[in-house]
Formats: sequence, structure tokens, C-alpha cells
Amino acid sequence: MTTNTIFILHDNPEWIPPFAAAFQKAGVSFQEWIFHDDAGHFLNLDEEPPQGVFWSRISASSHTRNATHAKEYARAVLAWLERYGRRVVNGSAVLEFEVSKVRQYLALKKHGFRVPETSAVFGERQLIEVAKKYTTPFIVKHNQGGKGLGVRRFDDFGDFERYVNSVDFEEPTDGITLVQEYLRSKEPFITRLEFIGGKFHYAVRVDTAAGSFQLCPADACEIDRQNSLPELAGGACDINGAKNGAFSYRAEITADTPLVRQLEDFLAQYKIEVAGVEFIETANGETVIYDINTNTNYNAAVEKQAPQAAADRIVAFLSEL
Ligand SMILES: Nc1ncnc2c1ncn2[C@@H]1O[C@H](COP(=O)(O)OP(=O)(O)O)[C@@H](O)[C@H]1O
Ligand SMILES: [Mg+2]
Repeated sequence: MTTNTIFILHDNPEWIPPFAAAFQKAGVSFQEWIFHDDAGHFLNLDEEPPQGVFWSRISASSHTRNATHAKEYARAVLAWLERYGRRVVNGSAVLEFEVSKVRQYLALKKHGFRVPETSAVFGERQLIEVAKKYTTPFIVKHNQGGKGLGVRRFDDFGDFERYVNSVDFEEPTDGITLVQEYLRSKEPFITRLEFIGGKFHYAVRVDTAAGSFQLCPADACEIDRQNSLPELAGGACDINGAKNGAFSYRAEITADTPLVRQLEDFLAQYKIEVAGVEFIETANGETVIYDINTNTNYNAAVEKQAPQAAADRIVAFLSEL
């Protein structure tokens, strides 16, 4: 058990209570550094950081929650921590993965994984032209995504053209929209593999029959989704919000599953220590990885079904460092 102070660097206090409960249960304390717009932090570059273990949970969607510059603040702070040799879990290189699906897909593909065919479009001018190179249906999403930002399915180029030219067009925060092949799943669910300390923890099945692209597992997002339903309904796609009960523990995937082993190898290579990796099993028998989340939130129902709650494993992992 560590005598180190554990620091959690994050941008969303709503996601902390399940971890706080796990820390409390284990009798381990932690401190928070919150990268909100009004958090009022500053950095004296000539001072050393405090001693401790630092866990970065900066999320790709931080800019949607009163944390406009969380990514930039975190880049500065992580550079400072790493410069002084502090132990950082999910450090600066991992943050760059979190905020760029381009980076994720390039690395995954290099490692031999099948990823969706994707184009990254800078700005709006060439969006329609690029989309026309894809067959319908196709997907658009934000390079810096999380919580389904900008994820839409189009079955018709005319609909897409109208969308791009309308006030509904969702501008990506980094200006990069991805156009992507649509993955037709064999059964209506996606799978999310959770890794802690670089090791497999459990697999989660998320039912997508309701048609949602917003699949954040956190309770806080569940509330968000319910609140945002009327506003989102009736768009160019079928965003309905994943229903309560959409998340379940998928017991047949274990540490011995070949995909899991390959991913552990991949995560080790890129020093990604805490991650949720999402894939779809397609109708033509392929397994396609399309999202790496490095600030994972654990679904309350799954935490109860699984042999060990991920939040408890996180505390044990951080305490051992
Ligand atoms: N290429 C695709 N084909 C089919 N469904 C997709 C595709 N990409 C994303 N989705 C659906 O949209 C959800 C959100 O997309 P994702 O890439 O995970 O973005 P985010 O980073 O915002 O979570 C996925 O969990 C999946 O259900
Ligand atoms: Mg996702």
C-alpha cells in the first residue's frame, strides 16, 4: 500500500463520486485537480510539483462542460509533472490519444487491428465531396469526440448536404470532422473492453437497439441524456439516448480472449494504463475497433454484476504504485 498522495486530474466533478466511494471503502485518500474554466489554477514553472501519483482523467468532451480549455491546461500541467519525473497514469501521450480519433485509428491500424475506413476533413468546404467517396449509409463524427459528439448516420447524400449547410451542423471543437464507413453490426450491441493498469478488467455489452450513438456509461450522462432527449429527437439520424438497462456485463470475454491479449499488447506499447476500448462485431464477421476512451466511467449496473467493481480495481492499482 502506497504512502504516496494520489491526485486525480479531471474536468468533471459529476464523474467522481463512484471513485470517491471506492477510495473511502479502501481507506485511501485522494486529492482533485479540476480543470474547469473558473478553477483558478496557476503553475509556477520554477517550482517542483508535489510528490505523489497523478492520474489524468481529462476527457475529450471537456469543452462541452464549462471546461473550455481543459485540454490545454492539462497539456501544460502534464508536461510539468513529467518534466519533474512524477508518476503519471495516462500521461501526456495518452491525452493526445483521447482527443484524436485520427491518432487512435492510425496507431490501431499499424498494430494490425481493423478500424473503420475513415477520412479526416479539415473545415467544412470539402465535407460533401469527401462523403461522396463513401457508400451510404456512412457516419460522421468529431475527431475530438466522446459522448457521441457529432455522431450521425446518413443514408442519403442529399440529407447530408442539407445538414452541412444547416444551423444543425455540429462544429467540431478542433475543426476536424471524420467521415467514416458505417459498421453494420451482426447483433444490435457494441462491446466496450475495460483495462486497468494495462490489464483487462471486464467487458461491457451496450445495446444499441434504441439507435443511440451517445453511449457514455456514467450515471451522470444517463441524466444528461434524459434531459436532452426532446432537443435531440428528430434530427438527421435516430439519436434517442441509450435506455436504462442498455449496459450489461459480458462474461464470455475474458483475459484469454485473443482480441483482449492483442489490445493489452497495444496499450502497453502506448503506455495507456486505464482505457475502455469499443468494438463492433459486424454482419460479415469482422471485429472492428472504433473508439478508445482513456477517461472511462463505469456503469453502476455493470459494476454490480462483475466479479470486481472497476472502481475498486482502480483504487487498488493506484495504491500499489
Ligand atoms: N462507423 C460506425 N458504424 C456504426 N456505428 C458507429 C460507428 N461509429 C460510431 N458508431 C456508434 O456511435 C457510438 C459513438 O461513436 P464513437 O466513435 O464511440 O464516439 P465517441 O467517442 O463520441 O463515443 C458508438 O458507440 C456506436 O454505437
Ligand atoms: Mg465511444
